[in-house]
Amino acid sequence: MLKDTLLYLAQNPRLRDFVVQNKITRNASRRFVAGEVLEDAVRATRALNNRGIQVALDLLGENVALKEEATEAARNYINAIELISRTQIDANISIKLTALGLDISPDLCEELLSTILESGQEHNVFVCIDMEGSAYTDQTVAIAKRAHERYGLVGTVIQSYLYRSQADITQLVDQGIRVRLVKGAYKEPQSIAYQEKSDVDNNYVQLMNILLARGNFPAIASHDEAIIDAACKFVRDHGISKSSFEFQMLYGIRRDLQEKLVGQGYNVRVYVPYGSHWYPYLMRRMAERPANLMFVMTNVWR
Ligand code: FDA
Repeated sequence: MLKDTLLYLAQNPRLRDFVVQNKITRNASRRFVAGEVLEDAVRATRALNNRGIQVALDLLGENVALKEEATEAARNYINAIELISRTQIDANISIKLTALGLDISPDLCEELLSTILESGQEHNVFVCIDMEGSAYTDQTVAIAKRAHERYGLVGTVIQSYLYRSQADITQLVDQGIRVRLVKGAYKEPQSIAYQEKSDVDNNYVQLMNILLARGNFPAIASHDEAIIDAACKFVRDHGISKSSFEFQMLYGIRRDLQEKLVGQGYNVRVYVPYGSHWYPYLMRRMAERPANLMFVMTNVWR
């Protein structure tokens, strides 16, 4: 119920304006967001790299309505790729297609994505296309496949709460496309998605085993210790090398677990969001865990 309310409020422009303009909530958001400018993200990346952790940089923003905003987002992503190359930080990037104008025109979105992928190819920086709500799943999978055919260094995300995901994973794996597996962060109806955590988790483990056995450097993106333990056991039991996949977690979440896995010789990548459009991202993190809502609220009342 609280989760549904928070996911609903993530789309509310009035609450967004209040939260984003409020200095206290802005400061509290720093627990989950590296900062508002690229330099903040680079600083956070260096600190993580020093602890043996790689990074996926995510310029926050989604569902833009103006062509200028989409073009600006693409330019900012190219700047990020160039900075990764120049500074030699250990990072790749993650993007949302609705930040590149998917709602305005799929052609515009693909054109802008191509400019980012050309830069990624030039600087040898991998690009992951995040998965958004189910209204975008078909388009995201199709665009990722076309982009991979042309540029190679691109992958996408599959959500274990969707019934369709095994079919998507099979196709992506067959085409040699890198997949990041997540549980899914949006509100989806029962007609297309599991509603119970146990069903989402069971499907996650099934999909994870497919990816670990025959995926192309998959990312197991979760903070769920039972899932992470199952991944470690699966690779041990099947003689799969630790170097053939990576764990991924979100910035500011389960830092203890990130370090423990690095200590055990696993690849760990942390998703580092930055930028001024952090409101829906923060709301999704609070929806995942009420303790995060308490964290933000106690900062407001302190
Ligand atoms: P689950 O929600 O079951 O949580 C398991 C445990 O992890 C909790 O008990 C708690 O200890 C800890 N935990 C989980 N979330 C937490 C939080 N917000 N704060 C503090 N602790 C938390 N989704 C999507 O739809 N599209 C995408 O592209 C991505 N991309 C993405 C990248 C990366 C690197 C990660 C880690 C996650 C995503 N996600 C995503 C989000 C994902 O779908 C999911 O909502 C969250 O990862 C939470 O699910 P868990 O797998 O962590 O398990």
